[in-house]
Amino acid sequence: MRTLEISNLHKEFVDAYTGQTVVAVGDVSFSIEQGEFVSVLGPSGCGKTTVLNIVAGFDTQTSGSVLVGGKQVDGPSPERGVVFQSFALFPWKTVLGNVTFGLRMRGVPRADREAVAHQYLELVGLQGFEAKYPHELSGGMQQRLGVARVLANEPEVMLMDEPFASVDAQTRRKLQEELTGIFETKRPTVFFVTHDVDEAVFLADRVVVLSSRPSQVAEIVTVPLERPRHWRSALDNPDFRHTVTYLTDLLAAGEPNADESEDAPETSAAAGAVGEG
Ligand SMILES: Nc1ncnc2c1ncn2[C@@H]1O[C@H](COP(=O)(O)OP(=O)(O)O)[C@@H](O)[C@H]1O
Ligand SMILES: [Mg+2]
Repeated sequence: MRTLEISNLHKEFVDAYTGQTVVAVGDVSFSIEQGEFVSVLGPSGCGKTTVLNIVAGFDTQTSGSVLVGGKQVDGPSPERGVVFQSFALFPWKTVLGNVTFGLRMRGVPRADREAVAHQYLELVGLQGFEAKYPHELSGGMQQRLGVARVLANEPEVMLMDEPFASVDAQTRRKLQEELTGIFETKRPTVFFVTHDVDEAVFLADRVVVLSSRPSQVAEIVTVPLERPRHWRSALDNPDFRHTVTYLTDLLAAGEPNADESEDAPETSAAAGAVGEG
């Protein structure tokens, strides 16, 4: 079942200073299945955030359509929960208050929402921190709280826009591995935006590669890695390395390749990495 279906998405902005029209998203189509993790990878400025914002309902497209659960997106909804790079937690609410907020807004009784919150806090390793405030948590913990808060609403799709871009490299690896573990446990549907090739491959079932502006889908690559995944074994895995190299070259080329067969990985194992591009 397709949870998210983006068809011929096109977005133009009019620059406030110059009055010039900027094509932020050229013509983007792809879909995400229920319980699938899709990374959207592309160079800076290719329109990744714009696509995510349209799916979130924060912005509207110039043309094309976005369906979530078969329905046209019409404004923000907890059904499409967003994990922001800048945490966006409620600083005046405790950890527990942050996670239960959405459920409270939906009228879920206190005992039930606290039971759900505890379950997700445990999932992200924040049990015991219920009474703390966001400022008492490290950056990594705040990001985990952001994930727990979104997942507690059991969204149709979880939207993540470079959520680990502002944490140090070591914490980033740890958070990526944790997110993978959470995904493998709960199987949410995830739309994950990044310009980091390793991250895109490590996390995803499929990687949607966007070309530079005016962006189009250059290729969709299926990641040939089994789950559960761990960095230690991924880095030693030739399929992981082949996929990363392939995508790195694709991004460097800047444009979709006319002849895919020339650029596809050579080994038969890695050949499975090339999807329906
Ligand atoms: N509100 C806006 N007004 C004008 N131009 C914008 C606006 N938002 C984004 N853009 C432009 O659209 C393009 C795509 O931006 P963005 O979606 O943020 O790219 P990415 O997330 O891939 O780095 C960029 O050229 C950016 O400058
Ligand atoms: Mg962006």
